[in-house]
Amino acid sequence: MDSIVVKGNGALNGQIPIAGAKNACLTLMPATLLSDEPLTLTNAPRLSDIATMTQLLESLGAEVSSLDDGHVIVLSSHKADNPVAHYDIVRKMRASNLVLGPLLARHGQATVSLPGGCAIGARPMDIHTDALTAMGAEIKLKDGYLHAVAPKGLQGAVIDFPFASVGATENIMMAATLAKGTTVINNAAREPEIVDLADCLRKMGAQIDGDGTSSITIQGVDRLHGATHPVVTDRIELGTYMLAPAIAGGEVELLGGRMDLVAAFAEKLDLAGIDVSETANGLKVKRRGDLINAVDVVTEPFPGFPTDLQAQMMALLCTANGVSVLEEKIFENRFMHAPELIRMGANIDVQGGHATVTGVDRLKGAPVMATDLRASVSLILAGLAAEGETVISRVYHLDRGYEHVVAKLRGVGAKIERIKQNG
Ligand code: EPZ
Repeated sequence: MDSIVVKGNGALNGQIPIAGAKNACLTLMPATLLSDEPLTLTNAPRLSDIATMTQLLESLGAEVSSLDDGHVIVLSSHKADNPVAHYDIVRKMRASNLVLGPLLARHGQATVSLPGGCAIGARPMDIHTDALTAMGAEIKLKDGYLHAVAPKGLQGAVIDFPFASVGATENIMMAATLAKGTTVINNAAREPEIVDLADCLRKMGAQIDGDGTSSITIQGVDRLHGATHPVVTDRIELGTYMLAPAIAGGEVELLGGRMDLVAAFAEKLDLAGIDVSETANGLKVKRRGDLINAVDVVTEPFPGFPTDLQAQMMALLCTANGVSVLEEKIFENRFMHAPELIRMGANIDVQGGHATVTGVDRLKGAPVMATDLRASVSLILAGLAAEGETVISRVYHLDRGYEHVVAKLRGVGAKIERIKQNG
C-alpha cells in the first residue's frame, strides 16, 4: 500500500485547480438508468469512487465510457436490464445505494445490497425505504439485500423526511421523475449536489421545482431523454485546499472556487483569522497574521458547516491560539483522525460527538494512518506545517476523493511525495 510523505516546508503560493464534485458525479451517473438515451457528464473527477460507480452501472447493463482522461463520462442504459446490485460491488461504496430509486423507476423492481456500515457510521437506509414505500413500493430486507417491487409503478406522494438526508433526497428525486403524479419532499437536503442533480434531470425532461430549498416538488413525466451536463465544482475539495495556505501560510488561489459553495466554511475561516476573497478565477486565501484564532464548529446539513470538512478544520485548529470545540452532528463516529493528530502532538479530547482542541505551538511530523477519506487529507494538511516529516499510510482512502493531491500541493510549493509500495 502506498504512503505519502509530507515535510513542513513553509508558506505555499500559487494556484490549485478544483475538480468536479465527487458527490455530485456519484448521483448524476445513476440518472442514466432513467432514460434509454445517452447521458454525457463533463468536468467529471477522475477518482476510484467514480470507477466503482462505473463498475456498478455496468453490472446493471449500462454502457459507460470515459473520454478526455476520465473527465468526460458517456453513459447509456438502453441495454440496462438487470435490476440487481450485488454486494461485492455495493460494499465498496455507500453511494451505490443511489441506484435504488432509478432501478425502481426503470424496472418497477430493484434488488440492492445494503451497503453495510463504514468507518464513520452505521449509515442506515430507513429514510430512503420509508419514502419509496410511501410512493407505492413494497420493500423487504432479506439476506442483506433490499428487495423492492412497485407492481403498479411508483405513485407521487407527499414525503416528510425526519432528517435532511442527502442520499435519500437524491434517490427520491430520481425515482419521482417517472412516478405517476406529483411528489413533494419536505425537509429535503439543500446541498449544491442536489441542485446539480435537479439541473441535470431538468435537462433530461424532468419537472422539478424547489431544489436547494427544504421543499422539492417533482411532477412525474412519462419518459426522460438524454442530456449533456457539467458536474458542479467540488466544494469539499475546494474547502480542503483553502486550508492549505491557512495552515502553512502564504497565498493560494483556488481556480474554479465559488463562495456560494463554501459560505459557512469561509465564515469560520474568517473568524479564525483567514482572509477569503473572490477573484476573477475563483477564491484567494491567505492568513491575516501569524496567529490562528480558536473557533467552535458544529457540523450541519447545508448551508451549515459541512461534516466533510470537519476533519480538515480540526487540523487547522490544532495550532490555534486557544481552545476550540468541534461538534459532529451528522455522523456518529467521525473523529478517527483525532488519535492520529494526537500522535503529531495535538491536544484533543474526544467525548462522544464533541472534540475539544487545545492549540499547541506546532505539530511534529510522525508516522500516521489514514482511516477514512476526509481524515486522510486532514493528516496531509497537518503535515504541511508540522516540524519534520509526516508519513501517512493507507492512502488508498485518498484516491477515493482527491485527484492528483500530491501534484496539486507540490504546485504551490509543498514538500510532498507519494511512495509506491507493493502489496
Ligand atoms: C452524503 O452521504 C455524502 N456522500 C457524504 O460524503 C456526506 O458526508 C453526507 O452526505 C452528509 O453531507 C455522497 O454524497 C456520496 P446522509 P449520505 O444520508 O447521503 C443518517 C464524503 O466524505 N441517515 O445525509 O449517506 C446517516 O446515518 C462522504 O464524501 C439515516 O439515519 O448522507 C448519517 O448519520 C462521507 N437514515 C446522516 O443521516 C437514512 O436513511 C447523514 O446521512 C439515511 C441517512
